[in-house]
Amino acid sequence: MRIAIVGGTGAFGLALAKRAIAAGDTVVIGSRDAERAATAAAELGAEGATNEDAVRAADLVVLATKADGALETARALRGAIGATPVLCVASELRFAKEGVFPTDEATSIAERLAAEVDAPVVAGLHSLAAATLGGDEPPEEDVLVCGDDPDAKALALELAGKVADGRALDAGPLAGARALEGLTAVIVNLNKRYRAHVGIRVTGIR
Ligand SMILES: NC(=O)c1ccc[n+]([C@@H]2O[C@H](COP(=O)([O-])OP(=O)(O)OC[C@H]3O[C@@H](n4cnc5c(N)ncnc54)[C@H](OP(=O)(O)O)[C@@H]3O)[C@@H](O)[C@H]2O)c1
Repeated sequence: MRIAIVGGTGAFGLALAKRAIAAGDTVVIGSRDAERAATAAAELGAEGATNEDAVRAADLVVLATKADGALETARALRGAIGATPVLCVASELRFAKEGVFPTDEATSIAERLAAEVDAPVVAGLHSLAAATLGGDEPPEEDVLVCGDDPDAKALALELAGKVADGRALDAGPLAGARALEGLTAVIVNLNKRYRAHVGIRVTGIR
């Protein structure tokens, strides 16, 4: 699979790239700056390109920019992405002294993103922390993916199954992205409270 990681110079994109390359996939690291992409990619043995060039000819686009920039980035890449499936990993979080809160938005960032592109959008991988994903071994965690387009979801599940040591699980329609994104706030609060790197294990599935 040829995977374009938009905003791939960040901690999450680099960790995902490392795992995907180890699993035999071809990765293009995308950035707003071609030189930054090339430098980051060279360390991984990946290709580097501007976000726009990266998404062309990809089988799957992973939108891994800082969450604040995800919608604007998708809007700008609409033409270049075309019909290529997009995996949104973003969670909007609000940091306050009482803890980390999910966004006040009524819909998930993934659902809003789906309105910005012509491609099918799926959401997932939110519970994989960059720190564990980029470690020496694939994290022993399950990975949740939701989406409405079966083919796009199958691609995202294929990637999810390669980058973690747990199961890649189909978590239903894209409307569930609201819960997955909100779960990120819960995970960050757990990490802070217990000084941990929390992951997800779903029980009861045979
Ligand atoms: N960090 C985690 O553990 C984790 C876990 C699961 C999911 N996620 C999600 O993964 C995404 C990336 O996380 P991260 O920690 O890697 O984020 P990050 O380091 O803050 O940002 C990733 C990249 O986004 C690009 N970027 C920053 N601001 C932008 C803007 N306004 N418009 C377009 N691009 C912009 C930058 O790349 P260039 O400057 O090179 O363009 C940056 O390297 C987020 O949406 C996050 O919610 C993160």
